[in-house]
Amino acid sequence: MKVLGISGSPIYNSNTDRALKASLEATGLETEFVKLVEYKITPCRACIGCVDTNRCVNTQDDGIMLAEKAKAADALIIACYTPYSSIDALTKAFIERLYPLRHKHGFMAGKPGGAIVTCAVPAASKTLPPAGEMGVNAVMFYMMEEGMNFVGSVRILGNVPCIKCGYGNECKTSGIKMIYGNEATVQSVGVNTFEGQPDALESSRKLGEKIADALKTAKGSL
Ligand SMILES: Cc1cc2nc3c(=O)[nH]c(=O)nc-3n(C[C@H](O)[C@H](O)[C@H](O)COP(=O)(O)O)c2cc1C
Repeated sequence: MKVLGISGSPIYNSNTDRALKASLEATGLETEFVKLVEYKITPCRACIGCVDTNRCVNTQDDGIMLAEKAKAADALIIACYTPYSSIDALTKAFIERLYPLRHKHGFMAGKPGGAIVTCAVPAASKTLPPAGEMGVNAVMFYMMEEGMNFVGSVRILGNVPCIKCGYGNECKTSGIKMIYGNEATVQSVGVNTFEGQPDALESSRKLGEKIADALKTAKGSL
């Protein structure tokens, strides 16, 4: 049994990465952690050249190899972040390039899956778009459309890049002010870490355990 974890976060050892690693570890199974930024992956071209072979015809990047990893895995956890309140482009391209696995066989159908999403806008915000929900939905809807068994999601409160850009207190487009109000500063907001969020830690572990349980249940019913 192998669980594949995909991280679309381009930052090394990011909140997203650490949450994904916690989930993978909690499965107690063989796992593989893939950092998409280390590969070349472009979006699906919608040429449907994959229909008869279940293999993409674009051999110019790592899309085929990454899709083969997903096909070979027994479960999939996709972790992403939310630039402009949407799923990040690397993760989106990865998901699109799983399309060849769909035709006639539905190679991903029945596999347990989960989503991990880091966003800077708190879920309780009434004025800004629901970035976390958008991210979870993007992954969940992919899994639903492929007939996967979506077992759950994790949301982590991350950091707006303005926290570390050096101009977060005075920039007129500061995301710190946008999210936390005009009085907020780099110092008052501070840095959000995955480890500092007990709920996120707990739900990351739970996600891994749920994936493992779903795999055991599926194996038991064979
Ligand atoms: C170009 C860009 C745009 C962003 N826009 C949003 C946004 O609209 N909403 C949001 O919640 N976070 C936004 N973020 C913040 C990311 O979600 C945040 O940096 C996240 O914590 C990154 O996760 P990581 O630390 O695991 O890499 C944006 C980040 C970047 C780089």
